[in-house]
Amino acid sequence: MALSSKITGVGSFVPERVVTNHDLEKMMNTSDEWIQQRTGIVERRWVDANTSTSDLALKASIEAIENAGIDKNDLDMIIFATLSPDHDFPGAGCFLQDKLGVPGIPTLDIRQQCTGFLYAMSIADKFIKSGSNKNILVIGAEIHSKGLDRSPEGRNVGVLFGDGAGAIVMSATDVKDGKADSHIINCHLHCDGSYAKELWLPGPGTGFNSENRCDQKMLDEGLHFPQMNGKVVFVNAVKKMSQSLINLCKESEVKFEDIDLFLFHQANLRINSKLAEMMGIPEEKVFNTIQKYGNTTAATIPLGMHDAVKEGKLKPGMLVASAAFGSGFTWASSLYRF
Ligand code: COA
Repeated sequence: MALSSKITGVGSFVPERVVTNHDLEKMMNTSDEWIQQRTGIVERRWVDANTSTSDLALKASIEAIENAGIDKNDLDMIIFATLSPDHDFPGAGCFLQDKLGVPGIPTLDIRQQCTGFLYAMSIADKFIKSGSNKNILVIGAEIHSKGLDRSPEGRNVGVLFGDGAGAIVMSATDVKDGKADSHIINCHLHCDGSYAKELWLPGPGTGFNSENRCDQKMLDEGLHFPQMNGKVVFVNAVKKMSQSLINLCKESEVKFEDIDLFLFHQANLRINSKLAEMMGIPEEKVFNTIQKYGNTTAATIPLGMHDAVKEGKLKPGMLVASAAFGSGFTWASSLYRF
């Protein structure tokens, strides 16, 4: 028997407001046809002005805790992945902990963008395997809409992203049969900071030749909006996610054909089709949600997990592989029996 961690509850939440590509046509110099052809996205969700990232996370967390069949007071840690926290500091985990009403337990914010949730899952797994924690709430939540350039010039990045949250509870488990029992099998985490400026949010920040971390010049130059070199991101996303997953499966002695479901990050439908094609994965084993949510960064994988459960495509005992890629560049892969 070996101490391990498993996913015991999943929850998600997306704001009610649906923003279609046609809605964006009225704000930006874009078209439904272009967005669908190049990305697969049809619509995304945007929050109202009075909603924060920890508000979205709270709703997803309550559902995950309920589905795990535990009391919130049984949680002994919160790990929160987001690039769009309520405030620069303290971390979004602190705000969520207060809203959830579980004072005293540690909270940790993960700043690894689209790869954030897999980093968070891997960290939770290691805390649980060390024996120090029993029930960890792991969240990915984002509000992109408040940070996008919604002017006609904002089309490059503005059409890609959406708001949402997903949460899981990870709990300690004794694994008797490593092949059959539900548990996290293996995770690989990566980063190459030499690509940091290919997809980033420059301001506000201390990385400027300025005495202030936020000034009018930064705002005038639009440095508070995300900047992206789409082509470089695309090529590297395909390369790094496939490499990571191939290495992970090899190390874990798992064959691709034995994997029941692939829950990839959702940045572009064409990225996931290319991944499936390169690795010989049948398209029906890849669960995609980008059509209805856009790219929700750290929320993407748990949101997809929850939708897959709701649609009956993810069932207990299934072998699942996830891979993600994002700003940093960061990338990761994970294998788990659900
Ligand atoms: N609507 C309409 N036209 C657009 C547009 C939009 N939203 N965005 C860009 N265009 C235009 C470009 O200006 C360009 O016009 P030009 O040929 O007159 O210069 C044309 O469409 C082609 O742009 P290009 O950037 O070459 O398109 P692409 O096929 O590379 O697709 C992305 C762009 C962003 C969809 C694609 O590169 C991508 O998905 N990259 C990965 C992004 C990503 O995953 N980011 C998050 C990482 S986690």
